[in-house]
Amino acid sequence: MQRLHEILVRDGVERELRQVLGHVMIACKEIAHKLGQGELAGILGSTEAENVQGETQKMLDVISNDVLKNILINDEYVRGIGSEEEDYTVAGHKDGKFLVTFDPLDGSSNIDVNLSVGTIFSILEAPANGSGDDQSIFLQDGRKQVAAGYVLYGPSALLVLTTGKGVNFFTLDRHIGEFVLTKEQVKIPEDTKEFAINMSNQRFWEPGMQQYIADCLQGEEGPLGKRYNMRWVASMVAEVHRILVRGGIFMYPWDNREPGKPGKLRLMYEGNPMSMLVEQAGGLSTTARENIMDVQPEGIHQRVPVVLGSKNEVLKVMEYHK
Ligand code: AHG
Ligand code: MN
Ligand code: MN
Ligand code: MN
Repeated sequence: MQRLHEILVRDGVERELRQVLGHVMIACKEIAHKLGQGELAGILGSTEAENVQGETQKMLDVISNDVLKNILINDEYVRGIGSEEEDYTVAGHKDGKFLVTFDPLDGSSNIDVNLSVGTIFSILEAPANGSGDDQSIFLQDGRKQVAAGYVLYGPSALLVLTTGKGVNFFTLDRHIGEFVLTKEQVKIPEDTKEFAINMSNQRFWEPGMQQYIADCLQGEEGPLGKRYNMRWVASMVAEVHRILVRGGIFMYPWDNREPGKPGKLRLMYEGNPMSMLVEQAGGLSTTARENIMDVQPEGIHQRVPVVLGSKNEVLKVMEYHK
């Protein structure tokens, strides 16, 4: 049995980063425990509040955010945090070496129906100067991430992590309270016949995306020449996890539902960490035109169109956008 800590030491991950990752995992174990309690703890349902993006916050969005925030801003190596559920970035330790951004609970519309949710996180190095409550120090492109991952709270709780040396899975052993290595050097199959997209937004997409999906639906008779299957969990963590396990393509593309919002997903705590994982597993992650990790962020809650997964299929979607 190899525990997370042992693997991080083996991979030469520096002590300070190991500590920060260890703290993220303590928070995720706490979140896993609370999710498991569900209705018993009276923590399902929504609050009266909205987050800065105008989404109604679930009780568990707020609880998960508080758990992560409290542990991280008290870590001496964390300069600051940025979260989906915080309007502004929050300062940690003034000399902290790292910045952590996170989506405390992804797929939270699944919470009240007892389906899969997750926590997504991304770790950057803090620059020499600047306080964690100044968002400008966070505005680094995704290539600068030193670690990224998610915890999927499904039938088992699973950590999927990269520190830039491939992607490993760790399953939470609830008896010993530790994440244990269960799959190493995961690779996404290059080809797929499975796509994931919220079809109800079809009329808002760009022509290229409309055409790609129309061609998928034609199956083996159409120009793509194969019969597709479709999945939509409405939890990006679950979606990306399925793709890491068996391949596929996931899209939350550009749409014109709301002016000024190029898609729904957020660059700094959804797009970038998932892109690092997907690329480290041999897949591709793009806006449909450029690599997501090359997008220069302009705000902590910036949105980004997302097309990721099996390499050859993602390349096809990019062709449709030329
Ligand atoms: P979050 O719950 O963190 O706000 O993110 C939800 C995201 C993502 O997980 C999922 O892919 C997508 O929203 C689902 O959106 P639709 O409800 O529009 O399908
Ligand atoms: Mn949300
Ligand atoms: Mn999310
Ligand atoms: Mn969320």
